[in-house]
Amino acid sequence: MKRMLLLLLMLSLAFGSACGARTSAPGDSPSEELIVIGMSQVGAESDWRVANSESMKAVFSEENGYHLLFNDARQKQENQITAIRRFIQQQVDYIVLMPISESGWDSALQEAKEAGIPVILVDRMVDVEDESLYAAHIGSDFLREGTLAADWMERSFQESGDAVSIIHIQGTLGSTAQLGRTAALEAAIETHDNWELLAQLDGDFTQAKAYEVMTDYLSGFSGQRRVDVVYCENDNIAFGALQALEEQGYRCGREGVNIITFDATREALTECLNGNLSLVVECNPLLGPLVAEVIQAMEAGRTPEKHHYVEERVFTREDLTKALIERREY
Ligand code: AHR
Repeated sequence: MKRMLLLLLMLSLAFGSACGARTSAPGDSPSEELIVIGMSQVGAESDWRVANSESMKAVFSEENGYHLLFNDARQKQENQITAIRRFIQQQVDYIVLMPISESGWDSALQEAKEAGIPVILVDRMVDVEDESLYAAHIGSDFLREGTLAADWMERSFQESGDAVSIIHIQGTLGSTAQLGRTAALEAAIETHDNWELLAQLDGDFTQAKAYEVMTDYLSGFSGQRRVDVVYCENDNIAFGALQALEEQGYRCGREGVNIITFDATREALTECLNGNLSLVVECNPLLGPLVAEVIQAMEAGRTPEKHHYVEERVFTREDLTKALIERREY
């Protein structure tokens, strides 16, 4: 189970500060019994991401039999590739990767394969020719999430037949979450002659960027432009867009600009209950227990299913109560 503990300890000490947060204190030596996990997380761009990291850290604890080397890539793929190479040198037992974008992984994953270290993908996917470069993927069906949102738009606007004007604020370009949610909206626009895409803006899954691009866009009109839907590819984008719209005098909600969002954090559900967000599509970040299940299956010598998708639902104001939001774990 443990490979070259001394080397691991020396390398983790040597790279600890450059590698971002570690769950163990410097100087900790993992016991022989612990399964060593090298984890490369995208960053902390959104509330979803923070909840995802917390879910991982809670499960991959020493009490549960793991030694976690946690790397925060600060939204840069090159940091993730460096972390993977470091985990290979450290001879970890498993690499858990939340890939920032889909392309550019073949070499690093090939190196992990050659070192005999299984790679488990979490949240987003990678676009590689050879599927054997990863053992399993656990995450959301982002295309389905986007389709749920497009179906809601169809139901909400079908009666009037009037033009539906849409602003689309995308997440990190090239990430599976962006590609799936964008593909669903674009496919729906193709099949609805009266749906008009006013703008496609890059919100990078952050509140600050979404606020900035939305403010810039709305300031380009002398008066107000009619906007029916703002399709935001995550909750933090929705919060930035909501703030920008309100500052420019727009009314948000079912009688005004319908903001659609993905994730369903407590804060987004609260805004939905208050009437400011019209549709919240769930994207579950609490993936730690599922990842541990896959690792335990592999420890027991079983081959895990290649893809594991989590159950997700949608919320409108009518589905929500304060009690439901308080019970929510993220
Ligand atoms: O890949 C999942 C997406 O990434 C979440 O929707 C978003 O909030 C996060 O940053």
